[in-house]
Parts: sequence; C-alpha cells; structure tokens
Amino acid sequence: MRSHINDLQAKLQSLKEWESSNPVRSADMSGKPVCIADFEEHARRFLPKSVYDYYRSGADDQETLAENVAAFSRWKLYPRVLRDVSVMDLSTSVLGHRVTVPVCVAATAMQRMAHPHGETATARACQAVGTGMMLSSWATSSIEEVAEAAPAGLRWLQLYAYKERRVTAALVRRAERAGYRGIFLTVDTPYLGRRRADVRNKFQLPPHLSLKNFSSSELAFSSGKDFGENSGLAVYVAEAIDATVSWEDVKWLRGLTSLPIVLKGILRADDAKEAVKLGVNGILVSNHGARQLDGVPATIDVLPEIVEAVEGKVEVFLDGGVRKGTDVLKALALGAKAVFIGRPVLWGLAYQVSEGKLKCMTLDPWTPCLALLNAHACVCVHPDHLICCLLKFAMTNPQDLCLCRKSFLAHIYMSVPTHINIHIVVLIVSQWPRVKKEQKKFSRY
Ligand SMILES: Cc1cc2nc3c(=O)[nH]c(=O)nc-3n(C[C@H](O)[C@H](O)[C@H](O)COP(=O)(O)O)c2cc1C
Repeated sequence: MRSHINDLQAKLQSLKEWESSNPVRSADMSGKPVCIADFEEHARRFLPKSVYDYYRSGADDQETLAENVAAFSRWKLYPRVLRDVSVMDLSTSVLGHRVTVPVCVAATAMQRMAHPHGETATARACQAVGTGMMLSSWATSSIEEVAEAAPAGLRWLQLYAYKERRVTAALVRRAERAGYRGIFLTVDTPYLGRRRADVRNKFQLPPHLSLKNFSSSELAFSSGKDFGENSGLAVYVAEAIDATVSWEDVKWLRGLTSLPIVLKGILRADDAKEAVKLGVNGILVSNHGARQLDGVPATIDVLPEIVEAVEGKVEVFLDGGVRKGTDVLKALALGAKAVFIGRPVLWGLAYQVSEGKLKCMTLDPWTPCLALLNAHACVCVHPDHLICCLLKFAMTNPQDLCLCRKSFLAHIYMSVPTHINIHIVVLIVSQWPRVKKEQKKFSRY
C-alpha cells in the first residue's frame, strides 16, 4: 500500500514537472469551430506544445503533408441539378460491415494526450455515429477497454510487426477475443519517419500515460527513460519494431487469423497486386498522414492506379488530408470504398476537453459539406462520375494529365463525351434531423 502511494506521488510529481515544461497556450478562442482548421487552431492553443507538435507533424520538410491536402483541390466536382434527393443514404459497407457514413477513424496513437478518455471517447463517438474505428496498437487505452467502452461499435486493430512476433501475435489474439472485426497491418513503418519537431521536443509520453496494450515498461513506452537527443518514439520504434518486415510476414499474418486483413500504407499498383495475391481483404492507400517518407505523392493522386490494379478483388480505402465532405466525395468518385481520418479526430478530441463534453467528432465537421452536395447515396458516386470530373480537369489542365498516370485516365480522356457531368448530388435535408438526433444522444457521454 505504502509503495503504491509512493509510486502515485512520484507520478504526480513528474506530471507536475512535465506540465511545467510543456505549458498550455491560451485556450481562448472566440467563436465556435466550424471547420477542421478551426478545430485544429483550438487544439494548437489548447494542447501542450509537444503534444500538438506530435499530432500535427509530418516527416522532414513536410512536403507531402501539404500535398495531401492540396491535391484534393486539384480535382473538381461538377454537380448535376434538379434530381430528387429527398431521400438520402450515406451508408456504405467496410469489410462486410455497414457504416452510416463513408468516413471511418484511422489509427492515431496516444489519444489520451488530447482527451482524458482518449481512445475510449473516440470509440463511443464512432459507435454513436455508426462508423468504424481503427485502434492503434500504440493506444493509451487497451484493446479490451475500448471494446468495453463501445461494445456495439465496429472496431479494427492496427498492427505493427514487432521484433518479437509473439508480441504481434498476442495483439491479434486479444483483438479476436474482444470482437474486433479486422486487422490493419501498417506496412510503411520499418523505421519511424523523422519528425523534426519531435526530435527538438525530445518527444515522449506524459508520465501518467503509457501504451496500454503492453505490460513491460519498454514496450509500453512509459517515460522515465533517457532517449538522449532524439524523439523518444523514434528510439522506441528502432528498438521494438522489426525493420526486416516483408511479404513473408503478410503470409504469416494471413495464416495466423481468419479476421479480414487490410494493408495500410500502400502507394503503388505493383504492391497492391502483390497484396491481393497473398489473400488480403483490403488496401488502405495511405502515406501515414505524411509522417513517414516525405516527398511521396498525395494519396488521392495514387488512388486511381491502385483501384485499377486490384480489379475490384478487394476493397480500397484512402486516408491522408481528408478535411471536408467534398474530399470524401472525390475519394469515393475515384474508387475508394470509404475514407479514414486521422488528425481531425485528434482536434475533435482536444476540443471536447474544453467543452467538458464529448461532441460528435466524425460527423459534425463533415455533414454540412456533404449536405450541400447532391447524391442520393454514397454508392451513387462511382467511377463514371469521376471520369467526368477528371475529364473536365484534364481539359483545362492538360499538362496535369501526367498526374493521372495509367491508361485508365487516358482512356477516359479519349472516350467520354464532355457534356456528361459528374453526378454529385445535393442532399440530406431529410437526413439532417437524424444526424441531429444522433448528436444529441452522443452529447451524454
Ligand atoms: C498523431 C498521429 C498518430 C498516428 N499513429 C498511427 C499509428 O499508431 N499507427 C498507424 O498505422 N498510423 C498512425 N498514424 C497515421 C494515421 O493512421 C493516418 O494514416 C493519417 O493520420 C491520415 O492522415 P490525416 O491525419 O491527414 O487524416 C498516425 C497519425 C497521426 C497524425
């Protein structure tokens, strides 16, 4: 008992020290956030600098970080008018499970730095909205805690290949037991990308937190260790994660579990084809939110060639830079089954802290954008609509056709009449009351 109290006192003391060396900026912000950028600005002011920097940063010069967002605005939408959109359906399915919106939550590590309930709060939000959540292996809530917090929610586990494969295998077993519906194997992280702010801040977890899926202090990334002049997380990854990870490990994972497997971090058609050959169930086109290799293309720009490569054999998803409803529609039009969002959820979590209640993080920023478009259903936004969008784009910017690498787009360019307009439809007057009801229900948490 005494040693437990001493332990708590020591933690409290180191938390105080951590807080004084990581001061919070002014949280005052006039007005309510109305878009993701506003949520981010709130988080920038509200969160300790090292936390905000960790969440926000991309790798190296952060070229891809900017590109992920900018690339969306190069794709244009051409809405039709005068279609009856009084009945709307935004739902789709992900790996065989229905989600009410085509926007799911990507794995982001260490969410309790943004909100005291962290991942469990996110899980409740997703359950209330009716969408899916990918839990990071590096969560500050355990696989089981998250399952208990939102038992009816749709959950997947994100996985890294640990040097000790039994560590990885144990996570898979726990996910199976706790009712997770799939595994997202991250394949772009043999080492951690160099995020300069984290190096400068010597980033590590605040002392009251740990990676809750692990019991040993080394794997739990508990503070107290001296990481020298580097980012603590970079040291952790170099020590624990296996840089020899290869296609053999995909085979190994396939043999280990019958849960659907999605490879997260594919950017090339040949890799996508290889993944399909090995029996994975999905591809998440991702550059890790621009946090790994800098200078890679925006995910939205490589999506078409990956969709083409997999020939409809597996589902294709996208993350990276999705910030508004129109981004979602562009990704769907380019062939994604659904999109995932990373940082917007963290900004949403940080906002809830100051509000003192948990608000709907996934729908709130998106729905107004979606509501101004015009599609009966997500399934109405398909490649035909994309074609027109690209065609228009390509005709005004022929030099940018090179963005659209494969014959797919050349074919479109040659064969589709210009008068066909993209069928993106305005909507959801009818859905709006339902969304509001969901939000109200959710505000209880
Ligand atoms: C703070 C932060 C932590 C992340 N942690 C993980 C992780 O633990 N595992 C993983 O596979 N991807 C991780 N990612 C990448 C996200 O899953 C996702 O690919 C990315 O955030 C999508 O880009 P967006 O933030 O622009 O939406 C992280 C991203 C951020 C911003």
